[in-house]
Amino acid sequence: HHYVAIMAGGIGSRFWPMSRTNFPKQFLDILNTGKTLIQATYDRFAAFIPAENIYVVTSNEYINIVKKQLPQLPLQNILGEPSRKNTAPCIAYISYKLHEFDPEASLIVAPSDHLILDPVAFNKVCFEALSFVGKHNALITLGIKPTYPHTGYGYIQYEQQAVSDNVYKVKTFTEKPELPIARTFIASGDFLWNAGIFVWQVKNIIPAFKKHLPEMYDVFEAEKEHFNTTQEVPALQRIYPLCTNISIDFGIMEKADNVYVIPSSFGWSDLGSWNSAWENLEKDYMNNASGGGNVIVFDTQRCMVHTPENKLVVIQGMEDFIVVDTNDVLLICKREKEQDIKEYVAEVKRNK
Ligand code: GDD
Ligand code: MG
Repeated sequence: HHYVAIMAGGIGSRFWPMSRTNFPKQFLDILNTGKTLIQATYDRFAAFIPAENIYVVTSNEYINIVKKQLPQLPLQNILGEPSRKNTAPCIAYISYKLHEFDPEASLIVAPSDHLILDPVAFNKVCFEALSFVGKHNALITLGIKPTYPHTGYGYIQYEQQAVSDNVYKVKTFTEKPELPIARTFIASGDFLWNAGIFVWQVKNIIPAFKKHLPEMYDVFEAEKEHFNTTQEVPALQRIYPLCTNISIDFGIMEKADNVYVIPSSFGWSDLGSWNSAWENLEKDYMNNASGGGNVIVFDTQRCMVHTPENKLVVIQGMEDFIVVDTNDVLLICKREKEQDIKEYVAEVKRNK
């Protein structure tokens, strides 16, 4: 009864211009490991979950990329969404689909774009979580010890007393707080970051949709009989336009009262942006990191440079910059401004 859903429908805009809407970061090998991020995610789960129980939920436009990058995955396990509605509809879809043929299914929901350095520790935490949700009506999230007030994460405050080995009841879940609030959370010392990896039984997440996202619940209830039939795709085409664009974090995790956390350390990193790539890549003696093609630097420090494989790039006199060259776009941006790359992309799209 153990299943995994890998969510791979995001567009990764902070990794622009390497990550593009038609080929986003989960399908790239950002850290030069020889595997794309989604391949690494898949391999982590395939070590303890059989391939026929691993699903990838993605936008219809990425289905062919997923097929190509994960040839081991049964074709019927690649689920396409007709539009991008964030993670709540994506999770409702896979949950209803599994519930139709396995009402006792336990599900691990995972992003496709994270770095995990210790897969053995990760495997162990997944088993602890699966075992707990098998016995309790619990929505588990994996928590990471935070290091700085990042405003792009969820923050979890939990009760001191464990309810079982390593599982704690969550007191508050705050998604993407403003900076002053994130600072308070970090200073208090009792918060964890939400890793965005969730574990629960599908029969327990469905009532959470009913309670906290009732309109979405109604839409899926009305169409669920079509899942796992030839009518699944037309049903999705009716469902998706009616769904609000909302993440599971804002939609359910902030509100539910049966959320539990397992504080975890498995070498997690979000790989959300060029600075996180810089942090995780090998660096030269002047702290420059590079990927892709051939890069030669002079008097240059702490830069993140990524170039096409067939191109030589020479840089002189830069400090703390991101330089990303692709076949059609060149980005040069201060490292401290990397959170604004999203806005630059929006501006580029407006001017098209
Ligand atoms: N199928 C599908 N459909 N997948 C999606 C969609 C969608 O519409 N939107 C996003 N995803 C995928 C992304 O590709 C990614 O793998 C995952 O869902 C999470 O989405 P993000 O957009 O990356 O979320 P986030 O980083 O802003 O926030 C989440 O992750 C943080 C940790 O990295 C939240 O769970 C935070 O609370 C958490 O701290
Ligand atoms: Mg993310």
